Amino acid sequence: MSRKVKPSVSAAILLLPCLIFPSIAFPADPVAGRKLAGQCKTCHGLDGIAKIPIAPNLAGESQIYIRNQLKAFRSGKREHEMMTVVARDLTDQQIADVAAWYESIEVTAKLPE
Ligand code: HEC
Repeated sequence: MSRKVKPSVSAAILLLPCLIFPSIAFPADPVAGRKLAGQCKTCHGLDGIAKIPIAPNLAGESQIYIRNQLKAFRSGKREHEMMTVVARDLTDQQIADVAAWYESIEVTAKLPE
């Protein structure tokens, strides 16, 4: 006699990785993200090195952090006159893509003497 797993249990097991790794639910595409970064480059640079003093560098920044901040700007949880406007119309997919692009940029750090 085979033991049957309850459907709800199997569904939970299947969904679990998507909850732990949201990138599985939204596979991020850094190439698409690079295109979207055209909208960010006047302030953050296409290479993630900021072009204006009040904008942070995004190069090499963790994609989890970038995603969380963009979603916070989009929902209004975090506010900024520029970023609130930028993030307002971004989809989850665009956020994942652009975050993957900026994370993929390799940065090196040099300590001062
Ligand atoms: C008009 C200038 C401008 C544009 C365009 C712009 N940003 Fe920003 N961004 C800023 C500024 C200024 C801040 C700092 C906000 C603050 O001080 O809270 C910021 C903050 C951020 C942060 C938070 C970083 C951190 O360290 O907390 C992220 C992530 C970000 N921007 C991503 C993007 C992305 C992705 C785009 C393009 C889709 C974009 N921004 C377009 C000006 C801009």
